[in-house]
This record gives sequence, C-alpha cells and structure tokens, in this order.
Amino acid sequence: MTDVLTPVLTDNWGTERSWTLAAYEDQGGYAGLRKALELAPVDVVEVVKASNLRGRGGAGFPTGMKWGFIPQDNPNPKYLVVNADESEPGTCKDIPLMMASPHTLVEGVIISSYAIRANTAFIYVRGEVLHVVRRLQRAVQEAYLAGHLGKDIHGSGYDLDLIVHVGAGAYICGEETALLDSLEGRRGQPRLRPPFPAVAGLYASPTVINNVESIASVPSILDRGAEWFSAMGTEKSKGFGIFSLSGHVTNPGQFEAPLGITLRKLIELAGGMRDGHELKFWTPGGSSTPILTAEHLDIPLDFEGVASVGSMLGTRALQIFDETTCVVRAVLRWTEFYKHESCGKCTPCREGTWWLAQTLARLEQGNGSEADLDLLLDQCDNILGRSFCALGDGATSPISSSIAHFREEYLAHLTHGGCPFDRTASTIFPKVEAHA
Ligand SMILES: Cc1cc2nc3c(=O)[nH]c(=O)nc-3n(C[C@H](O)[C@H](O)[C@H](O)COP(=O)(O)O)c2cc1C
Ligand code: SF4
Repeated sequence: MTDVLTPVLTDNWGTERSWTLAAYEDQGGYAGLRKALELAPVDVVEVVKASNLRGRGGAGFPTGMKWGFIPQDNPNPKYLVVNADESEPGTCKDIPLMMASPHTLVEGVIISSYAIRANTAFIYVRGEVLHVVRRLQRAVQEAYLAGHLGKDIHGSGYDLDLIVHVGAGAYICGEETALLDSLEGRRGQPRLRPPFPAVAGLYASPTVINNVESIASVPSILDRGAEWFSAMGTEKSKGFGIFSLSGHVTNPGQFEAPLGITLRKLIELAGGMRDGHELKFWTPGGSSTPILTAEHLDIPLDFEGVASVGSMLGTRALQIFDETTCVVRAVLRWTEFYKHESCGKCTPCREGTWWLAQTLARLEQGNGSEADLDLLLDQCDNILGRSFCALGDGATSPISSSIAHFREEYLAHLTHGGCPFDRTASTIFPKVEAHA
C-alpha cells in the first residue's frame, strides 16, 4: 500500500508546450525507443513481461503475455491497435494524456510495434475529441520528420507507419473487437471469439489491441527497467496508474500513484470532500464497476483489493458523490446511457437495457412498487453473463450494487411519491435531510 504520488506519465504535463517533440525530448523522451532498438524484438517482449505491466484498459490482462500470443510464424502482417476510444462514463485519463503528452503514446506505439514485429500501427481515437486528434496528428508528423517513424528507424532496419484513425463516437467501439470492425469500415459490433485478435484480428491478421495508458507506460519501462516498474504497486498489481478523481472533491483531477493507494489518501490529495459534505458512494473504475461506499475508503486500489469487495478496478475513474446526490437518479442516468449505447446485436442487452431504464424511471418517479426492486434484479440476472459482450454486464453493475447498498433510498422514492431530494433549490446538488 502507498501514500505517495509517482508522476511518470503525468510528469511532463506541466511543462511549457509539453505536447511538442522538442519539449518531450528535452525531458528525456525517446530514450526508451533507442534502448528498445538495441534489443531483439523478443527481448523487448521479455522486458515488458518481467515488469508485470497489466492492461490499463480495465480488465488488467498482462501486456507482455498478450504480445507473446502473436504467432510470429503467421505469414500475414502483424498490427498494433491502440484503443483510444475512452467512452466509459467517468473515465478521463487517456484523453488528457494524449492532449498533454502525445509523444509518450507515440513512443510507446513504436516500441510495442517493434516488439511484436508490426510494420503498421493504428491509434483509434474517439471522434468527438477533435483537439486530441489534432495533437496526435501533429505528434505523428513530428515523429516522422525526426526519423522516429517511417523507413529504417534510426538505422535499425525497422519500418513503421502509424495511422491516427478517428472513430464516430460510439461506446461499443471501445470493445476491442467492435473497434476492429469499425476500423475495417464496418458497423462497430463485437465479434465472436475465438478466433482471438492475436490470431485473427484486423484484416484477419495477428493483432495486439492495447489501451492508451498501457502503451504509454512502455517507454518508461524500457528506459528505467522492469525492476524499477515492478518495485511499485502491490504483489499482483505492479507499477503506477492514473487515478482520475471527479465529482464532489475540492480539487478534482488526475493523480498518478502506485496501484494499491486508497481512496482515503486520494481524497486527501484532492483537498478533501467539498466543504461541509461527506462521501456517500463512488465508482472505482467507471460506471460499469459496481459502486462502493464510505465503508470502502481503505481498500487498496489494485485489481485484487477492489475485487475482494465485489467491484472492479476498471479504469480507475473514481467518481465521487456526496450525500446530496440521489443514487437512484444517478443510476438512472447511467442506465439511459447503456440503453442508448447498446449496439443491438444480442437480445439480453438490446431488450434488457430498455426494460431496465423503464423500470428504474418508474421507481425514480415514485410510481413503482417494492416488487419493482425484485423485478430490476431479475432483469439484471437475465442480462449479466447472458450478453454477447461486457457492455451488457456493465449495465447491470450500478443497479445491483446500488440496490445492495441503498435499498432504503429506492423505497424512499415510493413512500415519498417521487425523488425525496430537493431539486427546486438553487444549487445543483442541494443538501437534503435524511429521507429513509
Ligand atoms: C463496451 C466496452 C467499452 C470499452 N471501451 C474501452 C476503451 O474506451 N478503451 C480501452 O482501452 N478499453 C476499452 N474496453 C476494453 C477493451 O475491450 C480491451 O479490453 C482493452 O482495450 C485492452 O487493452 P489493455 O489490455 O491494454 O487493457 C471496452 C470494453 C467494453 C466491453
Ligand atoms: S451486450 Fe449489448 S453492446 Fe454487447 S453485443 Fe450485446 S447488444 Fe451489443
């Protein structure tokens, strides 16, 4: 467990014009690439394996192991695809990273592509963030001009082209196989697995798909060593990560710390809860991860610690809600999001998210009955584990966890004949008296 910040990915965010190649190189940028090119590709994979870096996109799959699955005897081209879709409600780490320091990602892409012997790489970025797209495009252009990309990179004989691909803005296109369909020009819907992307991914060729933060962590590992990285974090969750605090804290923002830090410490670093208020509930990693409460302030924020209390570390998108927030209303908003973003491919999610939103809206307006709570849980049960991809599962998390922790608040909507929180007051989140 830790109580310190470890700025690595965020270290240069405050420097003058941090997004330029000159500023990045002034701070030692592209040193990791030079070291990587002195190694054989297979040894770069070994360094990343030894670091125990686990994917930062949510599931925590070991990155080096994923790279090792690429069949090098397959005659097809190999591809690296960076998942920069970042659409999970509350998640806001990759976009600031690409905005402040796009070269950290570009350098990571070059090293990672070299390791898996890919000569073409893609960054699939969400279309709404045009400012980020421009930063990335300029960084890629600068990297070509400096010889970090293109033919015979730094005399190594290695060639790489990097394409920034702009998606149209659909949450499902962050699911890795839907992303591949979208990148190929099709409607973004998840693919049946197997075959897994490592065997038949983009254009049916071996493909590695990694999150922005996973790939951006690679240059520092190559530069400073696997041991340096794995010395941070906890037994099974090594290294550092960006923890994004949003909501009712005094100073919301990005806090880069070793995995295993607690929410209590992070809230302290964020200046505490906003004045006069207390923590009510929070998400550890975006809206798809079951909500937690003030009881869980001291659990280590690593993959195992969060799982031990029935949630998931996810993307470390810590959305903090104080006692003025109606949990039923917040959950209804998230559920409407899932209903809207369901791609429609499978029945449990397509129909189920619609029914979840209907039932929840009825409860939130105070029109339902106590039996609707069981109905909601039954609907969740018919979606969880029965959907084609994890979007359906994620849609059930806020509902089942909020009923587990705040059943009385749901019932209070029924006895009150609507939301017991005062929405007519002038502030957005007025403080309310106990309403159970
Ligand atoms: C609905 C849905 C949306 C997702 N969105 C993202 C995303 O925006 N970025 C991301 O890296 N992973 C996202 N994922 C997870 C990816 O499918 C995949 O696990 C991840 O990109 C792997 O990268 P990593 O191993 O580096 O973590 C999403 C998954 C689902 C089911
Ligand atoms: S779970 Fe939802 S998003 Fe995933 S395939 Fe089924 S309908 Fe599409």
